[in-house]
Amino acid sequence: MSTAPLDVHKGLAGVVADTTAISEVVPETLSLTYRGYPVQQLAASRSFEEVAHLIWYGELPDAAQLAAFVNRERAQREVTRSTIGVVDRVPDGCHPMDLLRTAVSSLGAEDPAEDDNRRESNQAKAEALFAKLPTVIAHAHRRRRGLDRIAPDASLGWSANFFHMCFGEVPAPEVLRCFEVSMILYAEHSFNASTFTARVVASTLSDMYSAVTAAIGALKGPLHGGANEAVMKMMLEIGEPERAADWLRNRLAAKEKVMGFGHRVYKDADSRVPTMKAALDDMAALTGGERWVRMYEELESAMLAAKGIHPNLDFPAGPAYYLMGFDIPMFTPLFVMARITGWTAHIIEQLDANALIRPLSAYTGPHERPVPAAAA
Ligand code: ACO
Repeated sequence: MSTAPLDVHKGLAGVVADTTAISEVVPETLSLTYRGYPVQQLAASRSFEEVAHLIWYGELPDAAQLAAFVNRERAQREVTRSTIGVVDRVPDGCHPMDLLRTAVSSLGAEDPAEDDNRRESNQAKAEALFAKLPTVIAHAHRRRRGLDRIAPDASLGWSANFFHMCFGEVPAPEVLRCFEVSMILYAEHSFNASTFTARVVASTLSDMYSAVTAAIGALKGPLHGGANEAVMKMMLEIGEPERAADWLRNRLAAKEKVMGFGHRVYKDADSRVPTMKAALDDMAALTGGERWVRMYEELESAMLAAKGIHPNLDFPAGPAYYLMGFDIPMFTPLFVMARITGWTAHIIEQLDANALIRPLSAYTGPHERPVPAAAA
C-alpha cells in the first residue's frame, strides 16, 4: 500500500519551525543580532550581565535595572550541599558535561517551583541558573584537579567571580574581557540544535530544568558545542604550525571532518568568528601563545584552499580558553555558562505561544503484514 511521497527535510535543514524575537541570523550579510543589536557591538561595549538582561527581557538594562539584576545574581550564586553532594557522587573521571547535566537535574528536583511554568517563575529560574551554573562548573574544574571548592564571592562581577572560584584569583582585566567576549558570542543563536532541543522539551509543558538538562546533552556532541574541545585536541595533536597544512590535507584525504569548520546556516563565514579571533589574538599576546594563532591561520587557509569551508566560533574559542588556563574538558561547560541565557529565553518564548513540537516521519519499513502464527 503506497502513500503519497512526503517531502523529507533531513536534519530539518531549511525548515522554519517557528518564529522568534530573540536573535536574528542573516548569513547573507554575516549578521547576528540579539533583540536587534549586532553581537559584535555588544561584545565591544557591554558586560555579559547586560547582554543576559537583553536576551531575556528584550532591552538593555538602564542603570537601576542593571544594579537590581546584578544584586539578584550575586545573592543566589551558592548551590545547596545537596546539589554538591549529588555532583560529588558522579564518578571521578566523567566528562564535566555529565556532571553539569546531573547538577541541573538536581537543581530542578530541589526547586519547589520546578513545575510552575508561569512566565515570572521561569524568569526567576533562568536568573537562578545563570547565577548558579558558574558555581557548579568551577566546582567541576577544581574537582578534576583534586582541589577543594572555592565559595562564590559576592563582591565580584559574574566573570571575575567565576575565575576566582576556578583559580583562586582574578586575572588581568584584558583576560576577563576576552572571556566576556566569548560569553557574549556564545550566548544565543536562534534554533541551533541544543536550543531547539530545549524548545521541544518545553513544548510538552515539562519544566525548565528538564529542558536545560536535555539541551546540555545536545550541546555535548562534537558536531555542536563539543567542537571547541575537539579543536584544541586537534591543535595539540598537530603540535607545530608548520605541520598544520599537511595534517589537514591528510585528514581530508581520509574523508574525516576537521572540527571547528563548517556550519549549517553560515556557508560564507561565521559572523562571530572575527570578534572571537581578535580575542584569541589578544589572549595570545598576553600569554605568549602566538604559535596557536599561527596554527589557526595555517589551518584556516589550508581548509579554505582545499574545501572553501570557513571556521566557526568554536575554532577561535578552543585555543582562547586553553590560553586562559582551562582544561580542555571544561570548554563545552563554558559554552553552557553562556548559552543558558539563550536556552532559557527560548523556553520562555516557546511557552508564551506554545504548540507541541511533533514532526512527521516518512516510513520506510515493511508495509502492514499479518503476524505469522506463533510456533507451537
Ligand atoms: N570538515 C570537513 N568537511 C566538512 C566539514 C568539516 N568540518 N563541514 C562540512 N564539511 C563538508 C561535508 O563533508 C560535506 O561534504 P560532501 O558534500 O562532499 O559530503 C559538506 O561539507 C556539507 O557538510 P554537512 O555536514 O552535510 O553540512 P551540515 O550543514 O549538515 O553540517 C556541521 C554542519 C555539522 C557543523 C559540519 O560543518 C561539521 O560537522 N563541522 C565540524 C563540527 C563543528 O565544528 N561543529 C561546530 C558547529 S558551530 C557551533 O556549535 C558553535
